[in-house]
Amino acid sequence: MRVLVVGAGAREHVLVDKISQNTSISVIYAAPGNAGISELAQCVDIAAEDIEGLADFATKKAIDLTVVGPEAPLVDGIVDLFYTRGIRVFGPDKQAARLEGSKSFAKKLMLDYGIPTAKGMAFSDHESTIEHIRDTVVPFVVKADGLAAGKGVTVCFDKETAKGVIQECFVDEKFGEAGKTVIIEEYLEGQEVTVMAFTDGETVLPMLPAQDHKPVFDQDKGPNTGGMGAYSPVPAISGDLYKEIVERFLKPTVDALRTEGVIYRGILYAGLILTKEGPKILEFNCRFGDPEAQVVLPLLKTDLMELILATTEGNLKDYKLKWWNKVAVSVVLASKGYPGAYKKGHEIKGLDAAGNLPDIKVYHAGTAKKDSRTVTSGGRVLNVVGFGDDHLSARFVAYEGIKQIEFEGMHYRTDIAEKAITVSSD
Ligand code: AMP
Ligand code: GLY
Repeated sequence: MRVLVVGAGAREHVLVDKISQNTSISVIYAAPGNAGISELAQCVDIAAEDIEGLADFATKKAIDLTVVGPEAPLVDGIVDLFYTRGIRVFGPDKQAARLEGSKSFAKKLMLDYGIPTAKGMAFSDHESTIEHIRDTVVPFVVKADGLAAGKGVTVCFDKETAKGVIQECFVDEKFGEAGKTVIIEEYLEGQEVTVMAFTDGETVLPMLPAQDHKPVFDQDKGPNTGGMGAYSPVPAISGDLYKEIVERFLKPTVDALRTEGVIYRGILYAGLILTKEGPKILEFNCRFGDPEAQVVLPLLKTDLMELILATTEGNLKDYKLKWWNKVAVSVVLASKGYPGAYKKGHEIKGLDAAGNLPDIKVYHAGTAKKDSRTVTSGGRVLNVVGFGDDHLSARFVAYEGIKQIEFEGMHYRTDIAEKAITVSSD
């Protein structure tokens, strides 16, 4: 089989790594890929958002299957475009991807079908939003409706901040179309967890839970990022809680969409907060989480390619997911300044020394090749994933690996998976 993987991050690196383990694969292309991916796949210089360019490439190269990593092309309708051209592609179509592409659509679906979520209301003009927050008790959350590259959510502890964000959405049009509708949502307190599932629109096969670490600094300080590290599984999720998340959140969402005439095929990502009253949905995503994929997929024993094909064919009922009985902890190495402005082009040293250690995988995110060197080319640069029999040992391995790696301005959190260790030793 000839496969194309769309995207350029560590999530796509792990996807390429897992897909390459299937014996029917003859060639893998990645668009645009990164330095790490280029060791397993042929990278082509087409942006993940250029869905027409990707469709032309897939046709020209007789690609049998395209796997889409990031959300933007899914929300833009890459799946619909590929199917009109007769090319097989993995991911939800444009209608289904609204679950991530429009927070107001997702909120309405959850409210209509009784899926527990933060209380919230959508507004489409400046005045009525300002009026609404006059009577709203802080803290609350202001969210741009559409995709905003992870920057559209602000937790507001005072109303001045909220007014500023609302102004940015409606007056400054900072988020363009994505900010023309705004959600005002209640603030939820509790641990944040992720449960992702394969679904073909009928069968839902949930994966191991994971926990991301969004803020840039230790102890959850500083601005939110795409994710500074993750671990899987999550001791805070007991067997019963896991069952509840699958039965009350994941399956009802896929069923609700089907009732609405939308068949969701691909990865359904549920971001939840474990509140005192029980879990509640914070957000849905229409693809694998990043960095969650980097800890969940390496633990998947079942062949990923088979699952992807079965999803596109609507045959998931014939499958069960099997897992390695291990723990994975991933620490993200970022560029100084991220998630704000940062410099690129710094040489990365020690990649082989880290990668050759036992029980380690180094997945590349913002990296590029320059001559024979590997250099930084993004905010999140690398994910160092350690594996072990428990969280303590997996975490130790990841941080030992990091000791080998060096680049100018390298920044990482030193407390990844600490919560798991506190919980499991209680
Ligand atoms: P989202 O893009 O919806 O995942 O939001 C980004 C981050 O903002 C989440 O990962 C949470 O940490 C935080 N957040 C979003 N909504 C809420 C909420 N209702 N209550 C508390 N924190 C939230
Ligand atoms: N880790 C959060 C996300 O993938 O959206």
